[in-house]
Amino acid sequence: MRQAVAVYPGSFDPVTYGHLDILSRSLELFDKVIIAVALNIEKTGLFTFEERSDLIRASVNHNDRIIVDSFHGLLVDYVKRVNARFVIRGLRAMSDFEYEFQMASMNRNLDTDMDTIFMMTSKDYFFVSSRTIKEVASFGGNVTEFVPEAVGKALKEKFPQP
Ligand code: PNS
Repeated sequence: MRQAVAVYPGSFDPVTYGHLDILSRSLELFDKVIIAVALNIEKTGLFTFEERSDLIRASVNHNDRIIVDSFHGLLVDYVKRVNARFVIRGLRAMSDFEYEFQMASMNRNLDTDMDTIFMMTSKDYFFVSSRTIKEVASFGGNVTEFVPEAVGKALKEKFPQP
């Protein structure tokens, strides 16, 4: 039987409860979801590729339907390589829309078989982003409400407080 596989790509630097919310909801639509750490050339990372994947692994309960992976290069090539057709992206606000629209349109231009599915972030997490989490954590602020335990611990190690 053919399984419906989707790719959920992102920088995940680091993964937040907002991402995990999208991941668990996408499992209601697909048999398997590959959460894949990818490079966004516009962002400099705090965590290495490996650390980001490890933090995702430490944050998701064991589930045969979730695969944690990473890739370099174009998303469309990766999606083809893993025999998927659909890409999942979360939308928090209108401000995300233009960037997401451009990216989905470009990807569709590069590969007409690929489609992006957008999910609205839950109301509890619409203001949560990896960027703001890093900023708050860098000044010693409390982010435990918004990130899994392993991520909270890793942030404390990156930003030791006096
Ligand atoms: O979490 P992000 O930073 O918004 O995710 C963006 C990401 C990593 C999904 C995007 O930059 C991407 O797909 N990178 C891989 C390279 C690629 O295919 N770029 C073309 C997009 S138009």
